[in-house]
Amino acid sequence: MSDLGNFFSHCTKIVDAELGKLIPSAKTEPARLYEAVRWSVFAGGKRFRPVLVLAVGKAFGADERKLLSTASAVEMIHTYSLIHDDLPAMDNDDLRRGRATCHVKFDEATAILAGDVLQTLAFQAIVNDALLSDKTKVRLIAELADSAARMVDGQQLDLDGEGKKIALADLEKIHQNKTGAMICVSARSGAIIAEAGENELNAVTNYASKLGLLFQITDDLLDVTQTTEVLGKTAGKDLRAEKATYPAFYGIEETRNLAEKVYREAVAALNNLEKPTAILREIADFILNRKA
Ligand code: IPE
Ligand code: IPE
Ligand code: MG
Ligand code: MG
Ligand code: MG
Repeated sequence: MSDLGNFFSHCTKIVDAELGKLIPSAKTEPARLYEAVRWSVFAGGKRFRPVLVLAVGKAFGADERKLLSTASAVEMIHTYSLIHDDLPAMDNDDLRRGRATCHVKFDEATAILAGDVLQTLAFQAIVNDALLSDKTKVRLIAELADSAARMVDGQQLDLDGEGKKIALADLEKIHQNKTGAMICVSARSGAIIAEAGENELNAVTNYASKLGLLFQITDDLLDVTQTTEVLGKTAGKDLRAEKATYPAFYGIEETRNLAEKVYREAVAALNNLEKPTAILREIADFILNRKA
């Protein structure tokens, strides 16, 4: 396996163990709620956002143990966003992470509540982390709250944009909010825990905001080029829902060129960092070339 492949599997292992401790067991009452939470969290996601917390944090010299609660928190907020994104009132999907979506397996009300409680558990994970100072916790919570709110803004803009011909700047705004914000805060959190300076934090922000945009551009591309089986979620949905996407705006070839441009911008931001950033470049390569 490649170095990055090994890093992903290491991170997945330790983050899943942490999530296992932070999320109440499936026997906790009301059991239906925690069964639903666990159904969606432990369904085999890529764990990309926790990987980013750990990669940036380690590049800046943080102890891995100090990064775990925040890495788990961003994954909990991400999973909540997926559960709600799939609801009939939103994207109406019945497949996620290769299995039935939360509302299909359980019911709509339970899926809404599973998302709600995951968001609360995410903030609790940071609050209860004995390894972080109160000052760091407050900063992480403020950043995460801001980004989770931006994700919700983006989801509203995404729904408002269905069936409309929107300006390119508005399309970028949707993507930066619904997806970029949580990716950006993942990277920033790693740097904050490692007590990076403001200039370093700015470079990380530049890198991660490009990476976040790239992530959603490639998500849009995969929706029109990949199979449902490989994606573990229904392919071709964006066209049917008349979503505002990059391929709908530019076509596939031009979207690929644009993805490469955004990738180069992400990598260029790393030049301003005097830290071991090879893994961050590999992560950008992985997002540009990902197949799922
Ligand atoms: C899917 O995210 C939703 C988007 C923001 C595009 P991921 O592609 O990271 O999904 P998982 O976590 O691997 O299932
Ligand atoms: C999802 O965007 C963004 C969030 C969940 C916040 P999409 O709707 O494109 O994600 P998928 O394709 O369903 O995973
Ligand atoms: Mg959506
Ligand atoms: Mg969706
Ligand atoms: Mg999508």
